Amino acid sequence: MSNILLVGNGAREHALAEAILRSCQTPRLFSFMKANNPGIASLSEKIKLGSYADLKAITGFAAENKIEFAVIGPEDPLNNGVVDALSEIGIPSVGPTKSLARLETSKSFTRNLLNKYNIPGNPRFKVFKTIDGMEAFLSQLEGIVLKPDGLTGGKGVLVQGDHFATKEEALKLCQQILMESSSLIVEEKFDGEEFSLQCLCDGKTVVATPLVQDHKRRFESDKGPNTGGMGSYSLADYSMPFLKPQDLQDGMEITRQVAAALLKETGSPYKGIMYGGFIATKDGVKLLEYNARFGDPEAMNILPLLKTDFVEICRHIIAGTLDKLKIEFEPKATVCKYVVPKGYGLPADHPDAASSRAKIEVGNVGKARLYYSSVDKKKDGLYLSSSRAIGIVGIADNLEDARKIAEEGVKAVSGPVAYRTDIGTDALIQKRIDHMKKIRC
Ligand code: GLY
Repeated sequence: MSNILLVGNGAREHALAEAILRSCQTPRLFSFMKANNPGIASLSEKIKLGSYADLKAITGFAAENKIEFAVIGPEDPLNNGVVDALSEIGIPSVGPTKSLARLETSKSFTRNLLNKYNIPGNPRFKVFKTIDGMEAFLSQLEGIVLKPDGLTGGKGVLVQGDHFATKEEALKLCQQILMESSSLIVEEKFDGEEFSLQCLCDGKTVVATPLVQDHKRRFESDKGPNTGGMGSYSLADYSMPFLKPQDLQDGMEITRQVAAALLKETGSPYKGIMYGGFIATKDGVKLLEYNARFGDPEAMNILPLLKTDFVEICRHIIAGTLDKLKIEFEPKATVCKYVVPKGYGLPADHPDAASSRAKIEVGNVGKARLYYSSVDKKKDGLYLSSSRAIGIVGIADNLEDARKIAEEGVKAVSGPVAYRTDIGTDALIQKRIDHMKKIRC
């Protein structure tokens, strides 16, 4: 019997915990979390609560419990070097080392890597450490994106049209960012449709999982502030309705070339998840960013569909033998809807903001799957914990049935909560298709 360590406490890790325990090898799960996720706790042999910066606590917990390997969910522990620390005590991980995790943690590292190895997909960009030359570069771009270089919890990227209007405003923001961040990437803004391509990688072989589209905006019809992701869908044929087959091939080719470039650049194989945030544009597929982990919510779309034993997949990632394993998914559509506090993503002085730590009740979610995220389990029940609370996933032969299952499941959660009703609807998907048609013609 093998003991597996899971690091992370979100709904993505709840889905990972479930995937690990579905293994026919009857593994035992040990979970290190910064906050107690009741779903993960209920699946774990033992849990330990602590900071993801406390590498001693994580390695101590792993050593104490004779862990065979670790699965690292979020980016923070990767950025803190948890994989390196576990490796020092002989425990391998599914997740990249601190140096390789720069794929996500340093946006300039990834942009420069693509340039150096002539890999397609980059926008026009420049990395700035001071504002010297910035005004001239800003005036060359039609649309502007500003990215502080480092982890920003998905909220640091500033986009023209959303966060600022003019080049003058962009320049002011650049000055502000450079007071807090050592460098800043200024990029050309793309028009197109985004999609998530989450790949498994053992350093040499890259395997795609079904494509997913996330919905970042807080409100229906993609209105309101950006969030960590309000929900996502995937299709039974693993494609996206607005993409051409070539788009997936292009995203895969970029990811394969990036995996090879990482090996050349660092001398170490990247073992873990390479999640490419891509955008289909009139000029083909472009790279928005890589993440060194599964997406949240996107992990909830694809992990429940795995037919291949996830523990076997992890072992093959670690051994560098992914090419020897056939990885299969159920041919099903999925819709994930995040239940969030009504005040999620809204300013602190908004009347709904007060609801963000209120009590909720969870009834019968029917055929849907439920994955806990930020909830606080107290003696008298379950409380919201200011961020995304529960991921509800519908799985079916087609998208409409998956959406209905998710929608029914969401209704089982009562309290001052909200969710996006439009995710997975024909109307929203048609909007994406029409947008792409307009761009491509
Ligand atoms: N779905 C966005 C993220 O996981 O970063």
